[in-house]
Amino acid sequence: MKKTILITGSTDGIGLVTAKTLVGLGHSVLLHGRSSAKLEAAKQQLLAVSSEAQVETYVADLSRLDQVKALALAVRERHQQLDVLINNAGVYVVPETVSPDGLDIRFTVNTIAPYWLTQQLLPLLGASGRVVNLSSAAQAPITADEMTGPSNLDDGAVYAKSKLALTMWSRHLAASIGREGPAVIAVNPGSFLGSKMVKQAYGRVGGDLQKGADILVKAALSEEFSRASGQYFDNDAGRFANPHPDALDSAKNAEIAAAIEAILANR
Ligand SMILES: NC(=O)c1ccc[n+]([C@@H]2O[C@H](COP(=O)([O-])OP(=O)(O)OC[C@H]3O[C@@H](n4cnc5c(N)ncnc54)[C@H](OP(=O)(O)O)[C@@H]3O)[C@@H](O)[C@H]2O)c1
Repeated sequence: MKKTILITGSTDGIGLVTAKTLVGLGHSVLLHGRSSAKLEAAKQQLLAVSSEAQVETYVADLSRLDQVKALALAVRERHQQLDVLINNAGVYVVPETVSPDGLDIRFTVNTIAPYWLTQQLLPLLGASGRVVNLSSAAQAPITADEMTGPSNLDDGAVYAKSKLALTMWSRHLAASIGREGPAVIAVNPGSFLGSKMVKQAYGRVGGDLQKGADILVKAALSEEFSRASGQYFDNDAGRFANPHPDALDSAKNAEIAAAIEAILANR
């Protein structure tokens, strides 16, 4: 059956390859990016895969919370139902770390924006829906207060903290909504896949992006993943696995989710 799938950060890298793969399978894709020009180029690439492709484009800079809210509203205006949300947009190296909201841009894009987008789109996703969150093998302990302002730590340290925090709220949300809402799954797509992020962060070309896209397509569509809410899939190992031990601690997960809620209060 044809699904409607929103992929954040689908103007490049794993997200773009995932979008191409999904339209090739006949699904309807909602592309998202921060650049109108890159979005239009991505749309043309999808139409080259299939001239019948159903593609919409949404512009929003996820480092700005007002634009996260506007993105959710724009999707809600055009859709009453969404089958899958893939929270793929992410950053590692950024030219500026402080956001207009006074937060750290890396935590905002990688952890807080996907949380808020998911919360605002939950009514469209329903019990048969799915939320796929792009985690990473890089996961480092984080305390709740670390997300509330700019960090002085280096890009690699903040990236690993942001990805553990994303994995932690994924497990918390899955446990909170139970069977009433979508399956929520955190996925490490595979390490050192050849995107611009990997080139900037590690100075290496990296592996085949299709490996990451294929696991996201499986996470979005397969029966196996529909029963995996709250789990973490490690595509380096090719199986469901334990994330960092902190994400197995439901009290710590709840603290991270509460800290994000506090940041978002009254916005
Ligand atoms: N590649 C890997 O080996 C690897 C491993 C583990 C996890 N991941 C995760 O996989 C996801 C995709 O990464 P990738 O490797 O494919 O990197 P990428 O090629 O740099 O793609 C990142 C995407 O996110 C978008 N994005 C970045 N900042 C944004 C912002 N402020 N607002 C809106 N969109 C923004 C980018 O838009 P632009 O096109 O405008 O830059 C791009 O579309 C990330 O969450 C990453 O952490 C990747």
